[in-house]
Amino acid sequence: MDGRERELIEKLEKEKGLSESEYAELIARRDEEAASLLAKKARRVADAVYGDAIYTRGLIEISSICRNNCLYCGIRKDNNLTERYRLSKEQILSCADEGYDLGFRTFVLQGGEDPFFSDEVLCDIITDIKKAHPDCAVTLSMGERSFESYQALFDAGAERYLLRHETADATHYAMLHPSDMSFEKRMQCLRDLKKIGYQVGCGFMVGSPGQTAETIAKDLTFIRIFKPEMCGIGPFIPHHNTPFKDEKQGTLELTLFLLSVIRLTHPWVLLPATTALGTIHPQGREKGILAGANVVMPNLSPVEVRKKYELYDNKICTGEESAQCRSCLEDRMKAIGYRTVVDRGDANHGKI
Ligand code: 5AD
Ligand code: FES
Repeated sequence: MDGRERELIEKLEKEKGLSESEYAELIARRDEEAASLLAKKARRVADAVYGDAIYTRGLIEISSICRNNCLYCGIRKDNNLTERYRLSKEQILSCADEGYDLGFRTFVLQGGEDPFFSDEVLCDIITDIKKAHPDCAVTLSMGERSFESYQALFDAGAERYLLRHETADATHYAMLHPSDMSFEKRMQCLRDLKKIGYQVGCGFMVGSPGQTAETIAKDLTFIRIFKPEMCGIGPFIPHHNTPFKDEKQGTLELTLFLLSVIRLTHPWVLLPATTALGTIHPQGREKGILAGANVVMPNLSPVEVRKKYELYDNKICTGEESAQCRSCLEDRMKAIGYRTVVDRGDANHGKI
């Protein structure tokens, strides 16, 4: 680490952000020493805001059917070698019940863009989850929808929405997606969600094909300005039946570095140590927490469908029961001096 790198890290800490070109410079110059200094500062900030609490969210993967063809994704429409599934309303409600009994107070319903989940169908499910568990937060991660649709789901009781922006560079976005998807539309969806009043999560993959220090600097600038409540980042991992099957996987090192940068940019942000991070390294999620993350998302999907929700190869947690997944993460957090908490876990804006 040279003097300039140290200067950039100190500025990032003090001013909670850098200019786009400074973010790019910080990334291009990074080395082990810089990463460890950054992680130390990021962890100190996360400790100040959230203490030793790591929030848990129960993830329910409700459908692997998707009308889109994102080039990186294992459940893209053109992957005809994967078996598709869709959970029934009863299955979703029973996952939520099981999760509730395990202590979860936030459920994330995630799925491909499956046309079956019309507003009517989804609103009905959200209403019933809220009726059964009024003290729980419902988060949706169901892709791009219209303003009216997001509004209807919000009115039914969904309060959070995760929609990764994937990349804040329009040209890069076009490399990752087919021509019928647009960067503008994605950004519009994110603005709509915010306008309606959702707590919004954006995010991107680390090491996706075509990504550079400059595109990441754009992501960080977007995150700085957009101020999402949550930010999901994890390494890109190739899936064997996608156009990106021969591309390189994102690194643990860069993912951890960026987790720290994002924590310093938004001290209060909810930052998950993702399943993808746990997939590329046996202690990936623990390292993510130590670099500044403060959320984990154990899988509550029925075990018989888990293997089928394979966005990338070798995904972990596909054989374990919900209870096992929960206690596995609890133990892992305990081993590094943190404790998982099960309350709603809203972003702690007030603290810093
Ligand atoms: N590797 C890592 N993450 C992926 N996602 C989709 N495919 C992959 C992959 N091959 C991420 C995307 C999406 C989120 C649900 O999963 O960023 O938004
Ligand atoms: Fe799912 Fe360890 S967290 S099995």
